[in-house]
Parts: sequence; structure tokens; C-alpha cells
Amino acid sequence: MKGIILSGGAGSRLSPLTKVTSKQLLPIYNKPMIFYPLETLLKAGIKEILVIVAPDRAGDYLRLLGSGREFGAKFTYEIQDKPEGLAQAFIIGEDFLDHEDVAMILGDNIFEDDLSQEIQSFKSGGKVFAKEVPDPERFGVVWFDHEGKATRIEEKPKQPDSNYAVTGLYVYDNRVVDIAKHVKPSARGELEITEVHNAYLKLGELDVETVKGEWIDAGTFSSLYRAYKLAARLAGENDD
Ligand code: G1P
Repeated sequence: MKGIILSGGAGSRLSPLTKVTSKQLLPIYNKPMIFYPLETLLKAGIKEILVIVAPDRAGDYLRLLGSGREFGAKFTYEIQDKPEGLAQAFIIGEDFLDHEDVAMILGDNIFEDDLSQEIQSFKSGGKVFAKEVPDPERFGVVWFDHEGKATRIEEKPKQPDSNYAVTGLYVYDNRVVDIAKHVKPSARGELEITEVHNAYLKLGELDVETVKGEWIDAGTFSSLYRAYKLAARLAGENDD
């Protein structure tokens, strides 16, 4: 299985912090943000990783991550010219993936749990990870039936009656490349990853696991602050 870290976007919600570098390179306690999702992939034994970045920040990523040798891995880089959606990563990464399965993680997603087992046990279809949150309208939201099977996924619904957000870690077989090519841009002009989940859901091949530990999408000032506290705790420090 190969890995993708999608680390594009302008991070404009975090301006002025993101005026000189990208959101995913901001410090979270003792490491740049992207180290957390990178470690999630590395721990799962994924060694070939494509890092997709915004054009004006590519130099920063190269300086920080380099060839990957230092991490016992091999990094490849691609540019996402415009923030045109998460599903576009599979199209950009088609040659890199070369018909293999993929675990994609977002460069601003921090998981407390070690998800190696869940990633390694993937066989086929799709596997995504959900977490109960107080503000589901900010995310892709998943509904479950009484047996805990996912029935529906919607991108940022207005007033959802489910609190389960789909987090930014996705494992797919290589059909994802074709599926992504058929996704039409949404109202916000993006190829939504939710469309990809729904394509697998329709095939009856989407497995939705729940995450027990903390999960943070560090895209706002308050979630950055929470991320910092979680990272300090994970590093064994007491920041109070
Ligand atoms: C994206 C996805 C959304 C997902 C979230 C996780 O949202 O579109 O489905 O729940 O990442 O971080 P965005 O960051 O584009 O608002």
C-alpha cells in the first residue's frame, strides 16, 4: 500500500499565521503539524509517500521533509495548483499509485490513536474513520443504522441529526482513481471526497470504523490550540 499526504490549500482561515508558510507546517508543540499525519502512515509501515502541496509552498516542504530517507521512507512530491478538492489527490497521484491501494491522510489531521492495525487489515473497497464531534456541520457527516452500518454520508450538512464526522484518513483500493475521475465539482468548486465515499457505499464496499481517541482537524485557531494541548500530552508534558 502507498500513502498520500494531501497538504495543499492556502490556509486563509489561519491568516496571518499562514502568510509565510502553509498551515500544515505550523508548529504543534514540538513538531510541524504535518509530522503527525506522516507518523500515522509511517507507523502503519507505509514507506512510499506522495506529498501533495500548494505551488507557492513547495520549497518549504522540500526543506523540511527532503527525500524521506531520514524517516526511513521515500517521499515524492506533486503540486495541487488550486484547492480543487480532496478527491483530486487520487487523480494527481495516479502515476505514483501505479495500481496499488492507497491510504490518504490530510496534512492537518492529528489522531491520538495508533491506527496501524486498521490500516494494515484493509483488504478491498474503502475504509474511512468516523469520530463523534460537537460540530458535525463542519465536516463530512456519516449516518449509521441500528446495526452500526453506515447508511449515508453528506458533506457539511446544515443541521445534521448525526454527530459522526468523517475524519481525514481514507484507505481505498485502486478503483478510487477511476471513481475520482467521475466526480463532478461541487457548489464550492471542489471534487468532494464525500462523493468517493458514497460511490463505495453504493457498491456496498465502504467500511466505516470509529476512532476512540482524540481527533483534530487543525484548520481553525481553536482547533490549533486543542492540537497543541493534545500534542503536549502525547509528548508526556504537562502544559498547564
Ligand atoms: C474535508 C472533507 C470532509 C472531512 C474533513 C476532515 O473538509 O471534505 O468530508 O470531514 O476534511 O478533516 P475540508 O477540510 O475540505 O473542509
